[in-house]
Amino acid sequence: MNQFGGDWTQRKIEIVYDYAKAYLTIMKSYQFKCLYFDGFAGSGNIYNNNLIDIDIIKGAAIRIIEINDPKSFDIYYFVELDEANKLQLEASIKQIAPEKKTHVVCDDCNNRMIKMADYLKANPLVRTLAFIDPYGMSVKWSSIMSLKDLGIDLWILVPTGIGINRLLKRNGEISEAWLNKLEEVLGMTADEIKAYFYKSTTVQTLFGEETFVNKEQNAIQKAGELYKKKLNEVFKFVSNPLELKNSTGSIMYHFMMASNNSAAFKIANDVIKKYKD
Ligand SMILES: C[S@@+](CC[C@H](N)C(=O)[O-])C[C@H]1O[C@@H](n2cnc3c(N)ncnc32)[C@H](O)[C@@H]1O
Repeated sequence: MNQFGGDWTQRKIEIVYDYAKAYLTIMKSYQFKCLYFDGFAGSGNIYNNNLIDIDIIKGAAIRIIEINDPKSFDIYYFVELDEANKLQLEASIKQIAPEKKTHVVCDDCNNRMIKMADYLKANPLVRTLAFIDPYGMSVKWSSIMSLKDLGIDLWILVPTGIGINRLLKRNGEISEAWLNKLEEVLGMTADEIKAYFYKSTTVQTLFGEETFVNKEQNAIQKAGELYKKKLNEVFKFVSNPLELKNSTGSIMYHFMMASNNSAAFKIANDVIKKYKD
C-alpha cells in the first residue's frame, strides 16, 4: 500500500498522465513502438488516511494503463521493490487490462534502468516514456547516466528537500554514510558537493584567524538547479523544474522532465505551467 503524501502526490500523477496523452497523440503518427517504464510503480492505489474517511486515489500505473485514446502504449514495464505492492499491482492490471502487454517485476529500479538502456540500444525503434517516482534518495546517478543518447522522455521526482537538503548538515560535518549517499545520487565527489553547497568564511578573532563553514541558505533551490544542470549533461533538454511543496510551504521535491527531443521539452514545460501552484 502507498501512502498519500500531500497535494503534490496527485499533481505529479496528473502531470505524467497529461504528458502521456500528448506523447501518445504525437506517437500515433509514427512507426515507433512505445514503451512505458515506471521505476517506482507502487501498488496501484494510494491511500489517504490522515482523515477519518480513507480516500483512495489511483496511482500513476493504473492511470497510464487505462489510457486507450489516442492510443495505448505497446509495452508496459513496472518495477516495484516491495513484493506485496508488486503482487497487488499485478492483480489490478490483470483485472483492468488483461489484454495489454505488461511486465511487473520485483527489483531495485536502478538495476532495471540499466537493463532498459541495454534493451533500447538493441531495439532502436522503441521509444520510452519513463516515470521515476522515488520517496527518497534511491536513484543512483550512474543509472541516469546509462540512459544517455536514448529515445527516452524521463520524468523524475528529485528529493531535493526531503533527501538532499536533509543530508547536508548545517555545519558541513556530514557523516561518511551520508556523504556516500549524496555522492551516489548526485554523481559528484564529496569535495565537489561541499564546494557547491557550503561557503567558508575566515574572520579575524582575538586569538587569530578562524574559518567557519556554513551551508548556503537556499540549499534546496540550489539542489534543484544542480540536478537540472546535471541532467542536461545526459539529455539535450530538461524542462523547468516544478517545486512540490508540503502543506507548510516547504519544498519537498523538484519534478522535471529530461529528453533529447525539443518537442517533448516544449510539451513538458506547457504541462508544468498548467500545474504550477
Ligand atoms: C512514491 S511510491 C510510488 C507511487 C507510484 N508512482 C504511484 O503513482 O502510485 C514509491 C514506491 O517505490 C517502491 N520502491 C522503494 N524503493 C524502490 C527501489 N529501489 N526500486 C523500485 N521500487 C522501490 C516503494 O515500495 C513504493 O511503492
